[in-house]
Amino acid sequence: MSRPRIWVSQPLFTDLLERLAAHADLDAPAVVADHDADAVANALCDVDGALVTLNERIGGAEIATASRLRAISNVGVGINNLDLVALDAAGIVATNTPGVLDETTADFAWALLLGASRRVGEAERWLRAGEWRQWSFDRLLGADVHGATLGILGMGRIGQAIARRAAGFGMRVTYHNRTRLDAEVERAHRAEWLAFDDLLGEADHLVIALPYSPAVHHLIDAKALARMKPTAVLVNIARGGIVDDVALASALRERRLAAAGLDVFEGEPVLHPALLECPTALLTPHVASASTATRRAMVSLAIDNLLAALGIGPRAGSPPNRVTPARH
Ligand code: 8YV
Repeated sequence: MSRPRIWVSQPLFTDLLERLAAHADLDAPAVVADHDADAVANALCDVDGALVTLNERIGGAEIATASRLRAISNVGVGINNLDLVALDAAGIVATNTPGVLDETTADFAWALLLGASRRVGEAERWLRAGEWRQWSFDRLLGADVHGATLGILGMGRIGQAIARRAAGFGMRVTYHNRTRLDAEVERAHRAEWLAFDDLLGEADHLVIALPYSPAVHHLIDAKALARMKPTAVLVNIARGGIVDDVALASALRERRLAAAGLDVFEGEPVLHPALLECPTALLTPHVASASTATRRAMVSLAIDNLLAALGIGPRAGSPPNRVTPARH
């Protein structure tokens, strides 16, 4: 049997890729590349498998000529870049990397929550601009985190990791999920389920940790923002598009919301200019999972998935993290 061919869409860790190269011929770029739909289709048309990131959108059009393609391994837990129905219909196995990034992503949600609440970005910009000529008692006053009410929208693995950290801050932990967690899990996280509108109204700090689907597009819109306390802080480490960025920028500008910490944006890497103009928005470029250890673990798991999906190695034929349209 000839060696499989694999497209690696972006530069990943070359030492980790050697494990793939032992079994397959790789087509891997040396530098970061923006692949439009034609480039993706072109790359997929003569390979057996692909290791891709959230930057590559793959649906019916991109796989139309991919007659050898058997597996797409996404380096990431979010799979909204993949059209699972189209992949499934073509008999292509899709996988993702759940679990390995939960704690690192939860750490970063807290970095944004603390940074936005205590105005760390504003303070640093002000200092670097040479504005610190006098100390003043009421400068850069922010919102307390300890003792406040944390609201978590989406209480999956990452939401729960965020909740666990709240104990150290003596917070009341509330959450909203379509399905309420088992009483035992709620108790372990000291978390209280609230209806969506109540969560919006009661949270001092609201963190979004939901997977994206069209059903939650602009879930946090002008109406939802209007339900939040004007002193509240909103954090999004999930996906762009769940928040209506224009409505959020208006709420921040008009001080109907105190601050926001955002790692993801609709249309990223292009941000809405109104958000860029909000000093109370702490903005980061989709880096919540970006610790060295976690990004390496993601690539490693994605390689395990891909090899297994291609029928190679100890899990041949049953990739550990298969995603199917029925389950998502
Ligand atoms: C990744 C993410 O960096 O896992 C996800 O869903 O958003 C990030 O952790 C990204 O997906 C890389 O492809």
